[in-house]
Amino acid sequence: MKTVIRNGRIVTAVDDYHADILIEDGKVAMIAKTIDFEADRVIDAKGRLVIPGGIDPHTHMELPFGGTSASDDFETGTRAAAFGGTTTIIDFAVQSKGQALNAALDTWHAKAEGKTSIDYGFHLICTDLPDERLPEMKSLIDQGVTSFKLFMAYPGVFLVDDGTIFKAMTLAGENGGLICMHAENGVVIDVIVKRALAAGHTAPKYHALTRPTKAEAEGVHRAIALADMANAPVYIVHLSSSDALDEITRGRDAGINAFAETCPQYLFLDYSVYEQPGFEGAKYVMTPPIREQWNQEKLWRGLKTNDLQVISTDHCPFCFKEQKELGRDDFSKIPNGGPGVEDRMSLVFDGGVVAGRISLNRFVELTSTSAAKIFGLFPRKGTIAVGSDADIVIFDPNEEKTISAKTHHMRVDYSCYEGRRVRGVTKTVLSRGELVIDEGEYVGRPGHGEYLKRGLAFSPR
Ligand code: URP
Ligand code: ZN
Ligand code: ZN
Repeated sequence: MKTVIRNGRIVTAVDDYHADILIEDGKVAMIAKTIDFEADRVIDAKGRLVIPGGIDPHTHMELPFGGTSASDDFETGTRAAAFGGTTTIIDFAVQSKGQALNAALDTWHAKAEGKTSIDYGFHLICTDLPDERLPEMKSLIDQGVTSFKLFMAYPGVFLVDDGTIFKAMTLAGENGGLICMHAENGVVIDVIVKRALAAGHTAPKYHALTRPTKAEAEGVHRAIALADMANAPVYIVHLSSSDALDEITRGRDAGINAFAETCPQYLFLDYSVYEQPGFEGAKYVMTPPIREQWNQEKLWRGLKTNDLQVISTDHCPFCFKEQKELGRDDFSKIPNGGPGVEDRMSLVFDGGVVAGRISLNRFVELTSTSAAKIFGLFPRKGTIAVGSDADIVIFDPNEEKTISAKTHHMRVDYSCYEGRRVRGVTKTVLSRGELVIDEGEYVGRPGHGEYLKRGLAFSPR
């Protein structure tokens, strides 16, 4: 099967030029000024951008949380991702207490296999790492799970202590793996939450008011200090605040291998979402919470200066009606997380490139290339180059659309961006050369997506 994409403007993290692309056997076979020989399929990209498929390294399809599960499964979630121009996700498998790491991974393989429209990899959330289990991390790295998420938050559920974090970082560092940190002082937060509930503060806004930015900054500071002592890299997930960003900047300036992602909800939403009447604020109960508006420009600055390298989504949807409802009388029982996998590319293009905050190349880098490099997928993914997977998005930089739950494809009954007008729309999506979205129509198939055995992004010590 030969596909040619003609007349497009190819934009990668470093290039910007007009050329044609020949795709053969799922890979980019040739890029030339003009490719005019016969092909099985010709796609005209005139007037459009031709960019590497988005990589979202932070999703939670079907995540069990707070007595329920995230409402998108691997079928609905990856289809929605494709609609939005994302061709790779890295989701989080979760180890339950006492479980072997391999058993946890097997469970997530079973959830995803045969379901996904796009390629996928896994990180592993470790919740229980006695010394005898630590070597299992090495076996996971050999299977392409080269990153692990550890939590400083959620005592009794996900939290692991500092000694465990230090040991896991040491092992990861020795083997070329990467620790991803949910950096928030969950022990202190739990005290503040209990005090709030005792005072009768049960509304959704108290989720935000009980999770101060200093608790996040302290977690980031500690994670970086532990990584420094362990001589290992660290990646902070879902960074939300200026205070936390200051810690990243300080660590990086000191030469420590500290990386961080932020998410659209922290760039485009602000604390006022929690002040909406009734139970509406529950839609935005996610962790860390949405911060005061002034944090947004600080995060954009971090994205510009490369103190933040990645924009992921932390896609973890729960329906407003039946799932967020679980916490109607107690904010601490509202399942934490929100939808976003479908909206990321348009939001960041509109709020970043159209608004003049970042360049087109930086847009590609933040939504695709950096994640490919940090998580061991580059150059197979994250760029358009001869030999790379033909994961390609044809993106109209001028078309506008209105984001709405009425038209989105995520399996969730609300949108965090309801009614927001954005410029920049994904039109056509190829995953390893196969059409998944054709001019806004889904033409893919569950089961097309393949498991990605990721490589090492860091040299083992
Ligand atoms: O609220 C969130 N972020 N839910 C997903 C779990 C996590 O901590 O990433
Ligand atoms: Zn987290
Ligand atoms: Zn998450």
